[in-house]
Amino acid sequence: MAGVERFSVSIDRELVRSFDALLKQKRYANRSEAIRDLMRDFIVAQEWAADEEAIGTLTIVYNHHTPSINRTLNALQHTFHRQILSATHVHMDAHNCLEVLILKGSARTITHIADTLRSTRGVKHGKLAMSTTGKKII
Ligand code: NI
Repeated sequence: MAGVERFSVSIDRELVRSFDALLKQKRYANRSEAIRDLMRDFIVAQEWAADEEAIGTLTIVYNHHTPSINRTLNALQHTFHRQILSATHVHMDAHNCLEVLILKGSARTITHIADTLRSTRGVKHGKLAMSTTGKKII
């Protein structure tokens, strides 16, 4: 294959055994595909560490009966309208709401938005998934 580079690495046998067991469990067809994914994760982690342009999805769960929470979250989302590409709201039951926001911007700004929304009174759980624009990854 053109553009493919092969290299050999020396790794402790026990580490390789643990890795092979895990990639079977994670349903990887072979080591190469698992290692490619690890390398991509490494690159994405570096994009976030270097405060590059990034993509994140923030999931928050909150009780909409909490006083003023709807107004607060709405105002925050308007404040950061440039970074929030999409917002999906699901009424999960009579009390609990789920929102998933797709965020694009500098890694630091996305983290700031996630921290701000997650720490809003009444938000029960918030999780930021840090992903990538994909520009540096093949
Ligand atoms: Ni709702």
